[in-house]
Amino acid sequence: MITKLTFLHKADFVRMNRQTAAGLADPAFLIPFSDSEIETVFKPDAPDLIYGVFEADELIAMSGLYFNLDDFKDEPELQALDFSKAAEIGGSMTSPAHRNKGFMYKLNSALIRAARRQGITTILATAHPENNFSNRSLQRMGMRIVKEFDRHGYRRNLYRMDLEQFVNSSDSET
Ligand SMILES: CC(C)(COP(=O)(O)OP(=O)(O)OC[C@H]1O[C@@H](n2cnc3c(N)ncnc32)[C@H](O)[C@@H]1OP(=O)(O)O)[C@@H](O)C(=O)NCCC(=O)NCCS
Repeated sequence: MITKLTFLHKADFVRMNRQTAAGLADPAFLIPFSDSEIETVFKPDAPDLIYGVFEADELIAMSGLYFNLDDFKDEPELQALDFSKAAEIGGSMTSPAHRNKGFMYKLNSALIRAARRQGITTILATAHPENNFSNRSLQRMGMRIVKEFDRHGYRRNLYRMDLEQFVNSSDSET
């Protein structure tokens, strides 16, 4: 079952980030959240939406829909984009013992459905070019690479999906 994370889950969020970062093949696969970003996204009035899956009270997978798109606004390929109708899917991580079971697909599908309900028409995402699982996971959602770019000193593929392209068999679910 998917749970919407609130400030009550902040410690789970931090722990999941720390454990994921410690187990990566390359530390550059994950751009760490700063303390102030974490404070911001867990404010009660924040637009950001973070979904997680818990098993026996342990957070085993999470992904978020984030609305601070400042990292993308100067990209020439996105100049025609209405940023007020866009959001980023990011902070996507599944604990190693639970990977390859479809948790990320389910979480990101639910986030996309939530985005669509809010009138979001474009989803952006990024992945390190050599992070095969992350790239595959995004491509499996139907996301397409725009280009490779530099995000705060991290190499990233920039992905975009316009939501009319997103067709999901469980689209009618909440
Ligand atoms: C990238 C990541 C989030 C993917 O999470 P995941 O939960 O393993 O993803 P999924 O299970 O939804 O999909 C992975 C594969 O499992 C397959 N899968 C789905 N359900 C399955 C099942 N029941 N049994 C076996 N395999 C299954 C999917 O088909 C997919 O394979 P494909 O790409 O060949 O189609 C995960 O690898 C991860 O946490 N990596 C480290 C952190 C990271 O790099 N995050 C990205 C940067 S923020």
